[in-house]
Amino acid sequence: MKNIAIFASGTGTNAENIIKYFSRRETGRVALVLSNNPDAYVLVRAARLNIPSITFNRKDFYEKGRVLNALRLYKIDFIVLAGFLWLIPEDILRSYQGRIVNIHPALLPSYGGKGMYGERVHRAVIEAGEKESGITIHYVDGIYDHGDIIFQARCSVLPGDTVDTLAERVHELEYRYYPEVIEKLLTGNEVNQSGQEELK
Ligand code: GAR
Repeated sequence: MKNIAIFASGTGTNAENIIKYFSRRETGRVALVLSNNPDAYVLVRAARLNIPSITFNRKDFYEKGRVLNALRLYKIDFIVLAGFLWLIPEDILRSYQGRIVNIHPALLPSYGGKGMYGERVHRAVIEAGEKESGITIHYVDGIYDHGDIIFQARCSVLPGDTVDTLAERVHELEYRYYPEVIEKLLTGNEVNQSGQEELK
């Protein structure tokens, strides 16, 4: 049973979905939720689901090594970013090399990078007239939305789509695939690209 930590800055629907998924599995469990934002709704979700959480500021994270200490204290094996907006510092990247993943709500390498998160991503995709979007799950390195891609799944961008309707479609892909991909990585199983075949 591997211990998972989830980093999230916002509402935390993916975090909740992952917590619930692993509460029914023997492969891993979410042992800690971490946020840079003390007002993030993800903290309410974690409390409701009886998952311990901690918040931290920039100094704790980038200078004092307090977050790495907490990860060690909770014996965390694997780190999942779910709507987390800060870069991961060098000490954590080194200690968890190959064991930190992120999800991005578009098909990287397009529509990623600093400042590209949540609604902004979907707005950019719609404004560019793209016919498809999707999700990208990737390893995390020291650059925003940059590490090696593990898995992508696609969905259509429909005429008349708004940021909200596209976000909903992309969220469905996130809920469906992120927990399963995390589990495959935890258990050393190959992640295949079945989502790629869902092109509509
Ligand atoms: C998710 O759609 C995730 O892909 C995105 O933030 C949202 C968080 O939603 N992440 C990024 O944009 C990272 N660049 P949630 O808080 O409801 O899970």
